Amino acid sequence: MLYIGIDLGTSAVKLLLMDETGHIHHVVSREYPLMFPHPGWSEQNPADWYTQTIDGLKELIKDCDKSQVAGISFGGQMHGLVILNAQDQVIRPAILWNDGRTEKETAYLNEVIGKETLSRCTANIAFAGFTAPKLLWVREHEPENFAQITKIMLPKDYLAYRLSGVHCTDYSDASGMLLLDVKNRCWSQEILNICGITEEQLPNLYESYESVGTIKRELAESLGLPQSVKIIAGAGDNAAAAVGTGTVGDGMCNISLGTSGTIFIASSSFAVDQHNALHSFDHADGSYHLMGCMLSAGACSKWWMEEILKTTQYSEEQNRISNLGENQVFYLPYLMGERSPHNDPKARAVFLGMSMDTTREEMTQAVLEGVAFGLRDSLEVAKNLGIQITRTKICGGGAKSPLWRKIIANVMNLKIDIIESEEGPGYGGAILAAVGCKEYESVSDAVEKLIKIVDTVEPEEELVEKYEIQYQKFRQIYPSVKGLFQEL
Ligand code: XUL
Repeated sequence: MLYIGIDLGTSAVKLLLMDETGHIHHVVSREYPLMFPHPGWSEQNPADWYTQTIDGLKELIKDCDKSQVAGISFGGQMHGLVILNAQDQVIRPAILWNDGRTEKETAYLNEVIGKETLSRCTANIAFAGFTAPKLLWVREHEPENFAQITKIMLPKDYLAYRLSGVHCTDYSDASGMLLLDVKNRCWSQEILNICGITEEQLPNLYESYESVGTIKRELAESLGLPQSVKIIAGAGDNAAAAVGTGTVGDGMCNISLGTSGTIFIASSSFAVDQHNALHSFDHADGSYHLMGCMLSAGACSKWWMEEILKTTQYSEEQNRISNLGENQVFYLPYLMGERSPHNDPKARAVFLGMSMDTTREEMTQAVLEGVAFGLRDSLEVAKNLGIQITRTKICGGGAKSPLWRKIIANVMNLKIDIIESEEGPGYGGAILAAVGCKEYESVSDAVEKLIKIVDTVEPEEELVEKYEIQYQKFRQIYPSVKGLFQEL
């Protein structure tokens, strides 16, 4: 049988066709625009996601035996607010995970409603990119839009709805709305009341590997697919990536270097850190996870290379870097503000330490190192919780760079297991589809059979020591300039 994983990312949708042995037959990608209508805002048109997905789907399945396609599932950019009216039409562009407009609403939730209440009800506190503060923003700034809301969805759920006609979401993605009682896997009535919404306005909840229905008849006909193709709920992109890299099981870790950067720690039991610096979310296998999220990881490298250096020759640029662990230039990677661990939408990027002899290579290196230091910040929170991590998987566009993998292994002092396919969320989506179609007994059964480690990047003692000194300097930069960000 054949399974399709759809990774609904921030810059593009990536579709992947996998067979029951886990072999990837084809990967197709389609881009769509990302809009920044005001500094710090970030929006996309759900219609673009759908048209590009359908276009990509046609290409993906054009040479396969379509009668063999059994299931479709998703990994989707998290937290985005998609609102539909009574006719199931999109009311306004989606407000994305890296949008920082809700500073006031986030402060209201954390300070007036209170972090204790939020954490008790949802296991998390408010961050600017989460969905609940965005709802409050729409209520305050666009009351006519708020009044029309009939359904509130997350980005990949909009795709699932367009493919199946069912309003659904899954626990892993719903965790990032700040509306879900993560521990008990149900909506939190108390928080719904605070946001002025009802349970009827929310989609039905499913486990990531559960079927929500079948593909719509007209769509199946136009794509030449069987009407029996199941639509499986899918997961937030980080949980899907964790499935796609085999990060299933207590203490397993995955680092994702996409537009955002995340460190994802799977956990068999529910846990919350004392200051809620890490997100405490449901996992796609039915368990839980902790996660630190940097808003700009791959985005920093892309910005530096393509917008500033005006080049797309990533390897050529990185091949010139030689003095690892000794760079005098530091970079704070906060182009869109920062989520974990600072929760500061006003933070911005900083280069520090340049002199007349600073080179282009040192600045490129500083960008890669700054992101690694930012990920280490979240790892430190996990360590303080008593979580011992010695190795991790890695995925995402940035993970294709051997230099960046080496920097991360040494900055974080972690062994990095390289897996055969780095397709993260798309592969995870296809695996969830296969589990939903009963090809495998469970998510853990599937990943045990499908995920193969092909190499390991080992940290080197001397470099780890050098980077330890560098990290201690990096840690001092944000507190020193934090006040200034408020005045920019
Ligand atoms: C996770 C997060 C990002 C997006 C990126 O909390 O906001 O990783 O999911 O797509």
